[in-house]
Amino acid sequence: MTVRVPAKINLELRVGGPRADGFHGLATVFQAVDLVDDVTLTLIDAEPGTVQVTVSGAGAEDVPTDGTNLAARAVRMVSEASGVDEAVAVHIDKRIPVAGGMAGGSADGAAALLAADALWHAGLGMEELHALAARLGSDVPFALHGGTAVGTGRGEVLAPALVRGEYVWVLAVHRRGLSTPSVFAETDRLRQGRDLAEPEVSQELMKALGCGDAAALGTHLANDLQPAACSLLPDLELVLDAGHSVDALGALVSGSGPTVAFLARDAEHALDIEAALGSVSTLAAVHRATGPVPGAKVVSTRPLP
Ligand code: C5P
Repeated sequence: MTVRVPAKINLELRVGGPRADGFHGLATVFQAVDLVDDVTLTLIDAEPGTVQVTVSGAGAEDVPTDGTNLAARAVRMVSEASGVDEAVAVHIDKRIPVAGGMAGGSADGAAALLAADALWHAGLGMEELHALAARLGSDVPFALHGGTAVGTGRGEVLAPALVRGEYVWVLAVHRRGLSTPSVFAETDRLRQGRDLAEPEVSQELMKALGCGDAAALGTHLANDLQPAACSLLPDLELVLDAGHSVDALGALVSGSGPTVAFLARDAEHALDIEAALGSVSTLAAVHRATGPVPGAKVVSTRPLP
């Protein structure tokens, strides 16, 4: 059972102060893009409850294969909710950057929820899967949902956004990763003593999306976690500058970073941005991606060759 799941970009990410539970209240606009991971679950002959994880693809060596892996945790959650405990192997084929601010781990968790539900005919339904997704992580519900959506709470409360058109992105993947908790902690440190407004997304950005106006969208991209990501990884400023030099419509650090997303006018302009990024030595990869795309989907019920 193979499920394909998209990465996300936060077009806007507004972050409030720390809450009593350690999370931060936020308001964000997520967009799912066609940079995907494939998660395959296969029944195996082993002790009931066994979950074996293997990983291939970009950054595979940095993904844990023990019980902390979000896909393994997702399988155990479906097992508990449905009472099925057949042994499974989970294989994750990665293209979404690891620790890159594009919710790659959350995407794998969302894909595994859907795959386990389908493989075991657990019949949990979207509402229950969404509740499990929210328990698994703040970005997991969006990976199930896909498209473009406004997220509130800690990111798990979703409302679909009205969007026209398709957006072409160039994604600059850094050689290093950033840990999400450390970027939130650095944000708190940088903003210590400041009065923080209740986080909300800007009406201008929502209007640009509703009109399909990529140039207006580019000017309203914003991320409250960007100063902290740049503080922890100062060469991110060089990456952002490279895109400005070829007139990207907009550029921002995605989520907690360090992946930087550049908005292009069209595919030809994306080539110019890719060429400008070619000379930045701190990058591990440059991808082109288009959004919005749907969330996690079953793509195959046969083992891959
Ligand atoms: O929800 P998730 O497990 O992806 O969050 C990882 C970490 O990121 C949390 O433990 C927390 O430190 C931080 N976080 C936060 N506020 C959010 C989302 C995540 O502080 N809204």
